[in-house]
Amino acid sequence: MTETRTSPASAAAYRPTGRAIRFSGVSKGFAAPKGARTTAVHAIDIEVPSSQFVAIVGPSGCGKSTLLRLADGLIDPDTGAVTIGGNAPVPGPDVGMVFQNFRLIPWRNVADNVGFALETSGLGTGTRQRRVAEQLDKVGLAQWAQHYPAQLSGGMRQRVALARALVGKPDVLLMDEPFANLDAQTRELMQEDLLALFEAQRPTVLFVTHSVDEALLLADRVIVMGAGAVLDDILVDLPRPRIPDAVRQMPAYIALRAHLWTQIRRLVLAEPSSAFFGRHGTVQA
Ligand SMILES: Nc1ncnc2c1ncn2[C@@H]1O[C@H](COP(=O)(O)OP(=O)(O)OP(=O)(O)O)[C@@H](O)[C@H]1O
Ligand SMILES: [Mg+2]
Repeated sequence: MTETRTSPASAAAYRPTGRAIRFSGVSKGFAAPKGARTTAVHAIDIEVPSSQFVAIVGPSGCGKSTLLRLADGLIDPDTGAVTIGGNAPVPGPDVGMVFQNFRLIPWRNVADNVGFALETSGLGTGTRQRRVAEQLDKVGLAQWAQHYPAQLSGGMRQRVALARALVGKPDVLLMDEPFANLDAQTRELMQEDLLALFEAQRPTVLFVTHSVDEALLLADRVIVMGAGAVLDDILVDLPRPRIPDAVRQMPAYIALRAHLWTQIRRLVLAEPSSAFFGRHGTVQA
């Protein structure tokens, strides 16, 4: 298990507020065509300590989204256990989830899609509306509150999904390629916003990305997955608060980037189809 370390700069600001996420011996399979079964993840042991930001990288189809859905309590493991703060996960506003495919409600406008996350929170209508308005403002969608998902661009829909995940001020964030559909400029701005949010509020974060640079900029730790298993688990011991341009020039960043790329290149070369088209495979133990 990787130890959590903080640099002197981050130690002063470090206030753990999130709950730990733990995967203990977790395996999950799915029914596949012709009566076969796909093993999506196999014997996973990961502990994400309270208020740590963990990025997961790995080829398409290696089980990243499956891990997040297990952590959100949307699916149950076949074997092993997943806990958040020591308890079985239950979907709710204290766990913010950004799905890979948005899952906005088409017949609800933007404000009501975001407000949906607060409906079981017990907050009064006025407070909920104020929170929604503040969150839409933060993601630059204040003027789109009355529009419906079909009237938005892909990037805007992704920002609605992000606002919905953050509006409940969750102490656990599960994010599945949350910036994948954004244009390059918006993506950088959203990365900066997420950095600021994380450094101020210290939720526990599991963040899936295909970008090594995004993983290194944001995370305290990067887990490399391949074929449903954890292949590597590296500490990103870069100081916080992180200034993107400064971080990218640090020798430690450059060394970690080279290390991660070596691994990912090896994974892709070992199974070329996995990189872009999905491996749809079973675990080769
Ligand atoms: N609901 C499901 N039914 C059947 N098979 C599934 C289901 N969800 C995932 N799988 C299979 O499990 C494996 C892992 O899928 P998963 O979505 O976790 O991969 P991923 O790493 O998130 O990939 P990507 O980077 O493309 O999003 C794949 O082989 C996929 O086909
Ligand atoms: Mg996925």
